Amino acid sequence: MRILVVNGPNLNRLGKRDPTQYGTQTLADVEAAVAARASELRVDVSFFQSNHEGAIIDFLQAESDSADGIIINPGALTHYGLSLRDALADTTLPIIEVHLSNIHAREKFRSVSVIAPVARGQIAGQGWKGYISALDLLVDSLKETR
Ligand code: DQA
Repeated sequence: MRILVVNGPNLNRLGKRDPTQYGTQTLADVEAAVAARASELRVDVSFFQSNHEGAIIDFLQAESDSADGIIINPGALTHYGLSLRDALADTTLPIIEVHLSNIHAREKFRSVSVIAPVARGQIAGQGWKGYISALDLLVDSLKETR
């Protein structure tokens, strides 16, 4: 089983960027924690981060045929990234949307997700542990359907 873990614009700045919203862990720290959990669950994970919507779409088109599910924090593309949404829908894979911060308790524009309608669910406001929960839930449901 292989899960794609994708992070969008500005998430390469984790650890430095507004720690009150996004925590003090770097993206490398988050990816290491996800990799450790994936190894306990005996699943493969592939990580990708880009500040460019098109680069994320290229990655999804190249990798989704050989993957079983997607965990994505689209960053601000969450709120307007319709090309990303179309590419995610096109994978037909189960998707969990993750946000470090609680997007529903911040500025109004953040509470709208154009990704949510094509995702199986959304985890927001749980910091880096949201990625671990997303992995647990996705793998659990994929194992149930096998
Ligand atoms: C975010 C929330 C978005 O609104 C913001 O643009 C981000 C990060 C989060 O993880 O809380 O870049 O997706």
